[in-house]
Amino acid sequence: MSTAPLATKASTPTEPGKAPDSTERQGLSEGGVHEVCHPLVQLHLTQLRDKTTSASRFRQSVRRLATLMAYEVTKDLAVSVTSVETPVAETTGVDLAQRVGLIPILRAGLAMVDPVLDLVPTAEVWHLGLYRDEATAKPVPYYDKLPDERPVDVAIVLDPMLATGGSVMAALMTLRDWGVKQVKVASLIGSREGVDVVAAQFPEAQIYVCQIDPELNDQKFIVPGLGDAGDRIFNTLNQG
Ligand code: PRP
Repeated sequence: MSTAPLATKASTPTEPGKAPDSTERQGLSEGGVHEVCHPLVQLHLTQLRDKTTSASRFRQSVRRLATLMAYEVTKDLAVSVTSVETPVAETTGVDLAQRVGLIPILRAGLAMVDPVLDLVPTAEVWHLGLYRDEATAKPVPYYDKLPDERPVDVAIVLDPMLATGGSVMAALMTLRDWGVKQVKVASLIGSREGVDVVAAQFPEAQIYVCQIDPELNDQKFIVPGLGDAGDRIFNTLNQG
């Protein structure tokens, strides 16, 4: 799996039936922005985009993508050398040397917690409740129990969608106030506009997305996007 440097525009989906060329496969990044490029990532992202995908299949694809992303997002975690006894001999191994915090943004980010926690079993989970006001598209905070002290060494914000970027920036502001030195964002899909504004406002953040879509519509939904991730995960479409 690879992320590659330099993205100056939204990646364009390959035409149906046409194999991506090497540039498209390689993916694009710029500064702290990384598109996680892999055929399986694109495959499961396609499941998320499909409006006929059931809530159950949607959750399954979110879990698979979160696992694939976690592999990339955590690739620079610091380790310490340890020793381990195999059934045959003693050898060296590693422990994670940093306190890692997973920061799911409620609700949709919840679906990404377990797959990442499976891979980083010692991680702490600190929830942030934010919803996007439908009229203003601005984030409204409603839950935050972060302690005042002892910030984690590395925080990974989990949210399937980065649209205007308002919710992620509110989370990053909270983490900055907590004193977290290393911050990462894992979103399954982002908009060009939203990713750019987050990268500009938080240049220290490493932002990982499966794909950057070109635009937002009048309601500030990502286009083509995947709809509302929270409602599709929790099967609450058309409930209110
Ligand atoms: C969605 C999504 C992000 C946010 C993205 O959450 O999960 O948190 O909107 O939009 P932004 O980048 O413009 O801030 P939503 O407000 O729908 O809440 P939910 O997760 O409870 O469905």
